[in-house]
Amino acid sequence: MSVTVRVPAKVNVQLAVGAPRPDGFHDLANVFLAVGLYDEVNVSPADALTVTCSGPDAAQVPLDAGNLAARAALALAERHGIAPDVHIHISKDIPVAGGMAGGSADAAAALVACDALWATGATRDELLAICAELGSDVPFSLIGGAALGVGRGEQLTPIDVGGTFHWVFAVADGGLSTPAVYGEFDRLTAGTDVPAPEASPALLDALRTGSTDVLAKALSNDLQPAALSLRPSLADTLAAGTGAGALAALVSGSGPTTAFLAADAEAARKIADTLRTSGTCRTARVAVSPAPGATIV
Ligand code: C5P
Repeated sequence: MSVTVRVPAKVNVQLAVGAPRPDGFHDLANVFLAVGLYDEVNVSPADALTVTCSGPDAAQVPLDAGNLAARAALALAERHGIAPDVHIHISKDIPVAGGMAGGSADAAAALVACDALWATGATRDELLAICAELGSDVPFSLIGGAALGVGRGEQLTPIDVGGTFHWVFAVADGGLSTPAVYGEFDRLTAGTDVPAPEASPALLDALRTGSTDVLAKALSNDLQPAALSLRPSLADTLAAGTGAGALAALVSGSGPTTAFLAADAEAARKIADTLRTSGTCRTARVAVSPAPGATIV
């Protein structure tokens, strides 16, 4: 017997970042939107906990005990007094470079898959609590759709989305460390009064009504100056996508993936084609949102 779970990538349509907290994290108003690029995570009984990965970026995925999907299986097994003897296989289609929560997605998927395989019968709230222990973005990967995350980003309120949005994602060569990007945010904002993060009413309204034009004007990411400071070449990627007709462009999360909002599917294809030959990114992917959260297939 084995269980397979499909799980989406995300883009942050608003990432408002506050001052660093005593625990080192930052309070956020983090508006997550799940996008239709998916990993599939399969779990099956095995002699010991092992992880394999396939897909174009598979070589960049760590397969040791630090793999977030393995840590998710361990966390659930420990809580229920079960031996965590499963083989986890990740079919990876979410770009690995960073900013699309691929590792978080795999953790949420592994948790849902192990819960089914072991028939632990964990409640949704228990699964969400384990997700929050694993990482700030993991709970959202479980629920998908769209949601406002506050606190570290793990305290979620779902948002109804009233339409389909068309995106292009430019995948950079090489990653960016999330702690380093937050550290650069702290450096750039040192000595300034960093306001408490708040969700933008215009942005929430754009999601609810499904208005691409309003969403384009409301997209924002407080980590973007920090990501650009550490990786100045991302400005060229943003300019290439905007020049190809994107309604708006921004760094996705802590980057280095960049996201482009397109008017429709055809415009998205054109922007992706232009980006692929622009020399400013490794590749470009099109995707629509919203997308459902971790789902057994
Ligand atoms: O929670 P997660 O493991 O994804 O966080 C990775 C790193 O990103 C943290 O160690 C921290 O440096 C930074 N972070 C933060 N504030 C948040 C979320 C993440 O400073 N709200």
